[in-house]
Amino acid sequence: MISAPELVAAFQQRYGAKPRVFRAPGRVNLIGEHTDYNDGFVLPMAIDRETVVAIAPRPDRMLRIWSLNLDDTQELDLNNLGAGRRGVWIDYVEGIASALASRGIALKGSDIALNSDVGIGSGLSSSAALEIAVGKALVFISGTQIDRLSLALVGQTAEHVHVGIQCGIMDQFTSVHAAKGHAILLDCRSLEAKQIPLTLGEYQVVICDSRVRHTLAASEYNRRRQDCESGVKSLSAVLPGIRALRDVTLDQLEAHRSMLDDTVYRRCRHVISENDRTLRAAEALTAGDVTGMGRLMARSHQSLRDDYEVSCGELDILVERAEAQPGVLGARMTGGGFGGCTVNLVSRSAFQSFRERVAQEYQAKTGIAPEIFAAEASAGAEEILYR
Ligand code: GLA
Repeated sequence: MISAPELVAAFQQRYGAKPRVFRAPGRVNLIGEHTDYNDGFVLPMAIDRETVVAIAPRPDRMLRIWSLNLDDTQELDLNNLGAGRRGVWIDYVEGIASALASRGIALKGSDIALNSDVGIGSGLSSSAALEIAVGKALVFISGTQIDRLSLALVGQTAEHVHVGIQCGIMDQFTSVHAAKGHAILLDCRSLEAKQIPLTLGEYQVVICDSRVRHTLAASEYNRRRQDCESGVKSLSAVLPGIRALRDVTLDQLEAHRSMLDDTVYRRCRHVISENDRTLRAAEALTAGDVTGMGRLMARSHQSLRDDYEVSCGELDILVERAEAQPGVLGARMTGGGFGGCTVNLVSRSAFQSFRERVAQEYQAKTGIAPEIFAAEASAGAEEILYR
């Protein structure tokens, strides 16, 4: 967790004004990977790692943004917002400002300080946490309001336009809508969400960060999305009326397998089977069947590794070493893939030895020290009130 009082003190020292403070969490996806942009289902929860933004108005049209965690200050001119896509963190802020402005929100010049403990590129949605926290802060200073879903959509637009990733809605939706102690079952077509109490009994959610970030992630992500769209296009010749892989069953896919090239077929098989696993995982979680949920997570990883091909050697080692430990019900990569984190269901009493042994075994195989921590399901974006 980021300390709001420390951020406020740093803000006051640098800018000499008393700020308002907003936070937005990162997320871990329990299951439902690469399904959101296929109109499918996801089951994420917000984590207790977040981006916190302090903001105060200034008299001109500039945004001056100081990132404490990156030790960097950038400026944006609200009269002259650019097209982003420079591959730097300020692209996200510029994207949010542009997307809000194009929704008719009259932004005001501001001094901003932010700090984050969501690891950048770790697959825990550091970008959504940044977008949503900054978005909330900018809207507040503008003196207007925005509903939560619109704010999530603004974050997604920023990624599409200013960052160049054709992401789905899961990350931003979770960062605004999450409820403490709950996971969200989100239907990414209707955007209907069901809050599911995270009752794991003796188990807890544990995150293992591989500490590798492969540069392939962005281009491969967009390519996967194209593969899925191409599958839908081919299948719609025989399945009229389908709009997304959400509308196709596994039986239908098998029946028309010969129409698809093998790669596209496997991409489709992942998405269709993952939707099914996600719905079953939500049922298992609701019924308190943590073992069943763990089994579905293990199958999800295999499908992401073999059919969707978004895992990598390091993530596979983390999952394999996790599954070999006592007290583990399930382990899988989480997020976009090509590095980043795994999510695990680990018994509380086994956590210490899990952490030591997985770290040691992973390091012995890769030479990299992972970061392993337990995550609590936290609340979505909000203002932090301080005195
Ligand atoms: C990234 C994207 C999400 C989602 C996941 C994969 O986190 O931002 O929209 O597609 O990858 O499930």
